[in-house]
Amino acid sequence: MRAVHLIRRRAQRPRTNPFHFGDVALGEQFIDRTAELGELLGDLRSGQNVLVLAPRRFGKTSLIVATAERLRKEDVLVAYADLLRVTTKTRFAEALAAALYDGLEPPVGRLVQRAADFFRDLPLRPKVTVNPDGTPSFELAAGADERDVDATLDQLFALPGAVAKRRSRRVVVVLDEFQEIVAIAPELPARMRAVFQFQPEVAHVYLGSRQHLLRRVFTDANQPLYNSAKVMALGPIAPEVFAAFIHERYNASGKTITPEATIALLGYTNGHPHDTQKLAYFSWALVPEGADATPETVDAAVGQILETDTARYTELWDSLATNQRRLLEALAKPDRPANPLSDAFRRAHRLGTYASADRALDALFERGYVERVGRDAVVIPDVFLRFWLQEEPATSIVSLVCGTCGAGFAVPVWHCPDCDNHSHQDDIECGNCHHPRPSAS
Ligand SMILES: Nc1ncnc2c1ncn2[C@@H]1O[C@H](COP(=O)(O)OP(=O)(O)OP(=O)(O)O)[C@@H](O)[C@H]1O
Ligand SMILES: [Mg+2]
Repeated sequence: MRAVHLIRRRAQRPRTNPFHFGDVALGEQFIDRTAELGELLGDLRSGQNVLVLAPRRFGKTSLIVATAERLRKEDVLVAYADLLRVTTKTRFAEALAAALYDGLEPPVGRLVQRAADFFRDLPLRPKVTVNPDGTPSFELAAGADERDVDATLDQLFALPGAVAKRRSRRVVVVLDEFQEIVAIAPELPARMRAVFQFQPEVAHVYLGSRQHLLRRVFTDANQPLYNSAKVMALGPIAPEVFAAFIHERYNASGKTITPEATIALLGYTNGHPHDTQKLAYFSWALVPEGADATPETVDAAVGQILETDTARYTELWDSLATNQRRLLEALAKPDRPANPLSDAFRRAHRLGTYASADRALDALFERGYVERVGRDAVVIPDVFLRFWLQEEPATSIVSLVCGTCGAGFAVPVWHCPDCDNHSHQDDIECGNCHHPRPSAS
């Protein structure tokens, strides 16, 4: 009787969505990447520095977390620093100190005193506090002299090498979102190189999504980190691997998905890790218990996602200059990747001169909205942004409020595709560079 009761209660328990997006993919949520994992493990065991590049949300952090877990089981010491929110060199020093302490210091008997000892030789001693979860935080005195911050950073860079020697262990230091460091202090890569090159027992892993910027930092012969790391470009997850995962997760959660629906889902996302999990999540939520997800379910889920994300995309859109909008919109058209700087593309989408299209492209690269594939072709990696742009009517030529003179909604203005100067509706050419007014679509 009791067993029947239990079975009934278990059957009534609401099912939880078996897909996850946003956080690091761990455990059974982490699929594929076998080749990349093997390659990274081999490199890091040998002390090889690696730069892992991929667009936003492609699974860089998930991959390195899985790699670190394996390395730790082999007694390699791994320090992981997330630099996303680092805005100054002082914050960088604090984040690095926390990562090094966490990854390199043996966990037994960790006390504030031990943390203080660990950093006793630094020019600026961090103040150690213990977080509610028991992990320590490190804070450097506000307003410290820049030279002291630099000297502290130099010593923190050197610390992993010293620990590797002292403890006779291999060490891996992971710097996630490394582009932030280049942005806040362009001279830091040179300081890092100066120290890192004498640490053969330490492998450094740099992760980043601003591929344009990072490629330059690591592959331009004039840059200090030139050739200092092997470049690993992370691609999407193979659709057949994702298809098997989606089927298995559906079955395990009391719902099913038809093969046609799986094809439709992956047809939308092409194996983009985050966007596939997101679409699978929304689709699953639309299917009643015991029913099938069909291609119609997937279409409805896409509609729901676009609705959910429209505020974010509108904000992004509002922040772009006219020519950047026009270029982004053109790149969202189906059957791309395309070379946006080619004569034919620029003419077809009224992108103006090569120089002005190039400027717009650079701005989109800088903000990570587009990525290069191959030599010249460019794509928008965010799947849903692409669909959102396809849905939106072309509003790029006529803006409703003049950014310069504030003319209201009743007086539409247009912006020069070449120099971005604003002009009023009646102007037939740009008042600044005399570019003729583009014809409205
Ligand atoms: N190997 C994987 N298997 C399944 N899903 C994955 C995998 N890697 C990533 N994902 C999905 O992608 C999402 C983003 O992963 P992750 O945070 O690792 O990417 P990222 O490239 O580090 O992102 P960001 O650019 O924001 O730092 C995860 O929440 C998960 O939904
Ligand atoms: Mg990440």
